[in-house]
Amino acid sequence: MFEAQSMQMRIIPPVKPYFQKEDIEDIKNSIEEILLSGMLTLHEYTRKFENEFAKIHKVKYAIAVSSGTAALEIALRCLKLQEGDEVLIPTNTFTATAAAVIFAGGRPVFTDINPKTLCLDAENVQNKITSKTKGIIAVHIGGLVCPDIKKIREICEDHKLFLIEDAAHAHGSTIDGEPAGSLGDVGAFSFYPTKVITTAEGGIITTDDDDINTRARVLRDQGKENFGSNIIIELGYNWRMNEINAAIGIIQLRRLNEIIDKRNAIARVYDREFSKLKALTPIFTPLNLRNNYYKYVLVAEDGYDRDVLKEKLKEKGVRCGGEVYWPPLHLQPLYQRLLSTKKGDYPIAEDICRRMICPPIYPDMSIEDAEYVVAKFKEALAEV
Ligand SMILES: Cc1ncc(COP(=O)(O)O)c(C=O)c1O
Repeated sequence: MFEAQSMQMRIIPPVKPYFQKEDIEDIKNSIEEILLSGMLTLHEYTRKFENEFAKIHKVKYAIAVSSGTAALEIALRCLKLQEGDEVLIPTNTFTATAAAVIFAGGRPVFTDINPKTLCLDAENVQNKITSKTKGIIAVHIGGLVCPDIKKIREICEDHKLFLIEDAAHAHGSTIDGEPAGSLGDVGAFSFYPTKVITTAEGGIITTDDDDINTRARVLRDQGKENFGSNIIIELGYNWRMNEINAAIGIIQLRRLNEIIDKRNAIARVYDREFSKLKALTPIFTPLNLRNNYYKYVLVAEDGYDRDVLKEKLKEKGVRCGGEVYWPPLHLQPLYQRLLSTKKGDYPIAEDICRRMICPPIYPDMSIEDAEYVVAKFKEALAEV
């Protein structure tokens, strides 16, 4: 009886990659061509993917790599991070942002966030700069380009710091028409399966700088002076993207605008409906930004237990996405151990991240699905 009921329950997953039937056919054909060619890595598909990604994101170069984490570490190495150099990052990010700094030899220094945007705040950043600061990583959290990015860029210019955009969430997002990935010295994107576009696994670096482009290509391929050579000029790594991942990326890129439009259509329903509820406040996108809505973020009023609310929604078939991020990094056991951070260090992030909740959002969702999610939120709120 229970099984029969649960089989009928409508389940709305938190995320879902977007592959249309004809895209799957095109991917199969590309894979066949790749396998028959024998050129399985760093070849024509990778070059095409890089060129198209660069064009869409209005940069001179894009360098495809094995993951978003690799993209960040290569970016930091290209910017010549030295032992002991400090890099400012928001505390509400994925571990990879901080881990890449450590792997590249530096020390991450967390900063608090703007509660209205969940991103770095220019004033906070300014106050955190010391003689050891070498650069800043701005994270475009949930797909929202850090609204203070231009002020942060000016701060970087004044203090001779580098600016990396962690654009893992921000494919196709813009500020004043300028794309994520074109706003700092280097951009780092991820194509992990939950991301707005995916290559199954993968990442890409964006830059306008000729030297960074050259060095990133060397570093991603074992430090070889070029693909065909065995002359080693840097301590590199196997950070290559293979041709099959690149072929998937080319097909996904074709859909990027369509994906962003579909996500925005869901976000409009959520904006309209959730703003009527006192218990939940949506994070609104400033008018000069195009948000790809990797995440749609709500903040619950004090007094609601987010985890209980999520559990209630799950019982009703609505699976929420992961938060961006809980716990914030300064409360993670690893960083408490390595960096001696503690509860209370970044009170805004602690408060907001504890209360955030991310309803499902993906391109295949219908408007009716979104309205169903809102109805289930209302039911769950009445029960907690
Ligand atoms: C903000 C952020 N930075 C970096 C990464 C790392 O990307 P990847 O998983 O492709 O290594 C992620 C992945 O989830 C992320 O969310």
